[in-house]
Amino acid sequence: MNILVTGGAGYIGSHTCVELLNAGYGVVVVDNLCNSNPKSLERVEELTGRKITFYRGDVRDKALMDKIFAENEIAAVIHFAGLKAVGESVAQPWRYYDNNLNSTLVLTKAMEEAGVKNIIFSSSATVYSGDNEMPLREDSRTGGCTNPYGWTKYMTEQILSGMCTADSSWSVALLRYFNPIGAHESGRIGEDPRGIPNNLMPFITQVAVGRREFLSVYGNDYPTPDGTGVRDYIHVVDLAKGHVAAVRYVTEHTGCEVFNLGTGVGYSVLEMVKTFERANNLTLPYKIVDRRPGDLPTCYADPSKSAEILGWRAEKNLEDMCRDSWRWQSRNPMGYAD
Ligand code: NAD
Ligand code: UFG
Repeated sequence: MNILVTGGAGYIGSHTCVELLNAGYGVVVVDNLCNSNPKSLERVEELTGRKITFYRGDVRDKALMDKIFAENEIAAVIHFAGLKAVGESVAQPWRYYDNNLNSTLVLTKAMEEAGVKNIIFSSSATVYSGDNEMPLREDSRTGGCTNPYGWTKYMTEQILSGMCTADSSWSVALLRYFNPIGAHESGRIGEDPRGIPNNLMPFITQVAVGRREFLSVYGNDYPTPDGTGVRDYIHVVDLAKGHVAAVRYVTEHTGCEVFNLGTGVGYSVLEMVKTFERANNLTLPYKIVDRRPGDLPTCYADPSKSAEILGWRAEKNLEDMCRDSWRWQSRNPMGYAD
């Protein structure tokens, strides 16, 4: 059974390709490489001993998508392709709406015409509104997003669920990721952000490898046990396995379902720093600075629906995440550019 993975050369996509190939699926990737390096896919092939069919191009290119569906028997699509930097989306809203919404519209049109109606979408905990009680359940309030990136995730959920309402033969899984970190335990694939990292873990690993002087901890006056922000970090390999479970689900059911992919446990920024230091036996210089605008104090999932319905739960702990992130960064100090 072949799975089309859009954005498969990226961070989560490449790890998901490994798990799909290891589970026996054929993998077809389309990626325009706007935020990734084709070496990731070469390394996926090396790790799994399996070949990937790769199309370099844009998901918004309808002729290309038609060609991919004509040339391959696709059972389901995992749609990772998208732009994901929150701050950049505030500065370049049109680019984010164009890329993230038109990619979904063109992709689903091509799918419909090819008779492929099973899709898994990379959504985010960012679709939950900021006034919910923790933990977040799939039926917690959504909306009130604070940036265009978040709105693209919210709107894409609306588009896909509306298509299911209109046509009961569609099968959609909306996967709301919490905070993916870590890397494949081989240290061969991992997160390779361009420019200054926005997210905590890539910033930490770049400090540890000497590319940045110190970590700025954004605020220590939040209503959390140590005053720093609390998040639900999930190992990217666990997240990837969640997609394999979702592929099984969408190929066996119809309708639209939302699933949280998180661990259910929140850790603070300082707990992360201490765990990273302990797991890797190093010291991480950091400074407390002002809060980052738009950040919530606390965000973590209730992952019980995914456990019950997908039969999936995260297995790796924070130490595993810290060790694997560092193995990737220390062996590839400049990411795939090495
Ligand atoms: P990533 O940037 O590493 O991967 C995205 C991939 O999509 C890249 O390889 C990029 O080149 C490709 N791409 C982007 N637009 C494209 C287009 N129009 N056509 C073809 N290829 C295109 O990001 P990631 O961290 O792997 O995230 C994957 C998905 O998960 C994204 O949709 C992201 O918004 C979502 N997500 C990520 C996180 C996170 O923290 N990493 C959290 C929640 C949701
Ligand atoms: N943080 C720092 N210093 C840094 C980077 C982050 O202290 O240099 C802190 C943040 O303030 C936050 C925590 O580390 O408390 C995690 O921050 P990230 O930027 O790694 O993750 P966020 O939870 O802010 O953002 C993530 C995704 C977004 C998504 C958002 C909401 O990266 O795509 O969750 O779900 F929109």
